[in-house]
Amino acid sequence: MKIAILYGTETGNAEMLAEDIGDALDADYEVSCTNLSDFPVTDFDPATFYLIVCSTYGDGELPASAQPFAEALAAGPASLAGIHFAIFGLGDSEYEETFNFGSKQLAELLTNHGAAQLGERPTHDASGADLAEDLALPWAKDAVALAESRFGKAA
Ligand SMILES: Cc1cc2nc3c(=O)[nH]c(=O)nc-3n(C[C@H](O)[C@H](O)[C@H](O)COP(=O)(O)O)c2cc1C
Repeated sequence: MKIAILYGTETGNAEMLAEDIGDALDADYEVSCTNLSDFPVTDFDPATFYLIVCSTYGDGELPASAQPFAEALAAGPASLAGIHFAIFGLGDSEYEETFNFGSKQLAELLTNHGAAQLGERPTHDASGADLAEDLALPWAKDAVALAESRFGKAA
């Protein structure tokens, strides 16, 4: 099973986290790690499992690096049927009304285009006690195990 980690970031936290996840998985899988700003919506591949890490900026908005991707997806008729993904959000509960809305928006956009989400959408709170990697690494491993149990390693 190929794994593509895609990240949406404004100031680099999601990128660092995506790289840590890639390092944790690349001994066992073929893994790529790509900024959503460099990922054309036409590049989705059903044989790849997508792990998405995305922050929130502004007033509950997508971070800058995810915006062109989201606009391209929203504008086009692209169908993501057959695409499977799991998503992890980075946010800050200081923004209580819009906590982690970026990853929520992105998950909705993907599922509205026919992609299937595996698992819940865990979130990191920059004002909380946990380190993002302490939440995201177990999440990534569980999500990959779930994908493998559904599709098998050769999918
Ligand atoms: C100007 C600004 C606006 C933010 N807006 C939100 C928000 O609306 N909701 C939220 O949950 N987090 C918000 N955050 C917190 C970021 O999502 C959090 O710091 C995250 O770790 C940043 O990750 P990044 O460096 O990958 O963009 C905001 C942070 C800043 C500096």
